[in-house]
Amino acid sequence: MNQLLNPGVIENATPLHPDAQTVTSVQHWTDNLFSFRLTRPRSLRFRSGEFVMIGLPGDNGKPVLRAYSIASPSWDDELEFYSIKVPNGPLTSMLQNIQPGDQVILRPKPVGTLVLDALLPGKRLFMLATGTGIAPFASLVRDPETYEKFDNVILTQTCRDVAELAYGRQLVESLPQDLLVGEEVVEKLKYYPTTTREISPNQGRITDLIESGKLFLDLGIEGFDPEHDRVMICGSMGFNHDVRSICEANGLIEGANSHPGSFVLEKAFVGE
Ligand code: A2P
Repeated sequence: MNQLLNPGVIENATPLHPDAQTVTSVQHWTDNLFSFRLTRPRSLRFRSGEFVMIGLPGDNGKPVLRAYSIASPSWDDELEFYSIKVPNGPLTSMLQNIQPGDQVILRPKPVGTLVLDALLPGKRLFMLATGTGIAPFASLVRDPETYEKFDNVILTQTCRDVAELAYGRQLVESLPQDLLVGEEVVEKLKYYPTTTREISPNQGRITDLIESGKLFLDLGIEGFDPEHDRVMICGSMGFNHDVRSICEANGLIEGANSHPGSFVLEKAFVGE
């Protein structure tokens, strides 16, 4: 057995890898989706929405690392991640078996464009996700700065079926009780989950629901306004491409850390 994964070994020992962190909890949401929490290195500072490289030692001892958005907010004592299980994936086929007490390698160099700093000031913030693309937004909806900067926050997640929405739904349902952001969430956050391959209250790709105007109608809000709306996008390549086109057609301009704009996007990390 890989020593790094043996809780018996790590209990009293110094970490076997200089960047190793300890798993504090694991939750399996479906056969294909799980989330887990790690201890946070004291020195790790990050902005909500950023990602880091995490992984496990491979067969040859060389770490197998993949980019993962940090799903917990920047103030949290621990780090949370939300992952797909890719069949035969070099990392996730191992990572899906982690247990509390195991160790995971975390390179403490957070980066990314799904950050509030990359957006110009605005009034409404749309966070549009498919699948595990909700992870950076799970961080941002728990960050008080999101509600300091925006009057309204709209979080959408599109998945194939209802079970795949559970992580996001449970998180959003817990937010009104959150001591830091609870009041702002009740006042400012709208959540709009949709499914494409199973019947649910909101059906269809969010791209179609935006273009038909149904998203705005259902939420009782105005359509896109390039002056005041800001958009963050995180999903598959095709999704990001299509939402970027919608944003540009509506007069929104892509931003980055070096030049804030009215929308930003990042590929949802699949793990593998
Ligand atoms: P669909 O079922 O119509 O393909 P996946 O599991 O393939 O990553 O997809 C996750 C969700 O994202 C699915 O509901 C899928 O819808 C939706 N999706 C995939 N590509 C796009 C796209 N280009 N625009 C909007 N939604 C998309």
